Amino acid sequence: MRRALRRLKVRLSPHGRTILALHDKLEGILSVEESAFLYRAARGHKTIVEIGSYRGKSCVLLALGEPSARVTAIDPHYAQDDSGAIRYSPEDERIMNDALARYSVADRVNHITATSAQARPRWQDTPIDMLWIDGDHSYQGVRTDLELWAPLVRPGGLIAGHDYGHLESVRRAWDELITNDPTWGPTGRVRSIAWARKRQP
Ligand SMILES: C[S@@+](CC[C@H](N)C(=O)[O-])C[C@H]1O[C@@H](n2cnc3c(N)ncnc32)[C@H](O)[C@@H]1O
Repeated sequence: MRRALRRLKVRLSPHGRTILALHDKLEGILSVEESAFLYRAARGHKTIVEIGSYRGKSCVLLALGEPSARVTAIDPHYAQDDSGAIRYSPEDERIMNDALARYSVADRVNHITATSAQARPRWQDTPIDMLWIDGDHSYQGVRTDLELWAPLVRPGGLIAGHDYGHLESVRRAWDELITNDPTWGPTGRVRSIAWARKRQP
């Protein structure tokens, strides 16, 4: 019942039918409200970086949320366990590429098959409008992502991270580097996603 109400709420909101159709057809781990958040949050953000793509769900939502966006999607796509919940594998990359083609966004997505730390030197220090972090969920993994990539978010830009609500490791790193840093604000939550805007100087 609660799930049905949550879906109804999204359906009745702007772009609700589109978002629900995408949410239902794409493979991933987002709740329906989180899918809606990403689709809408992308609007107006042209340079988007995603850390952790899995099978392309969040990447497609971001790319379709802002039709002129270029999304850089970073994921090593090697076999690994994530908190025992999912087993990742190179097969994920094939499924992601299929999704990017099916939704006609492949030409706007630069997919880097590497960890976020390996990908960082390949980024030309271009300011990022929106940074979405959903990669290595260990405390050190999230810290590394934030230390390497968050400084590149332009003033007024948006950062969002998944699993803040589920994982203590994520929450601790995010609070240390984002919540407690006056550079960031306002901040907010959408289910397990935490987000923050970088203040203008
Ligand atoms: C929870 S999944 C991402 C789900 C995706 N954002 C979605 O919503 O559809 C986490 C992904 O992070 C990737 N990953 C793990 N460590 C990473 C790292 N250091 N840098 C980038 N991606 C990483 C994994 O391979 C996996 O595909």
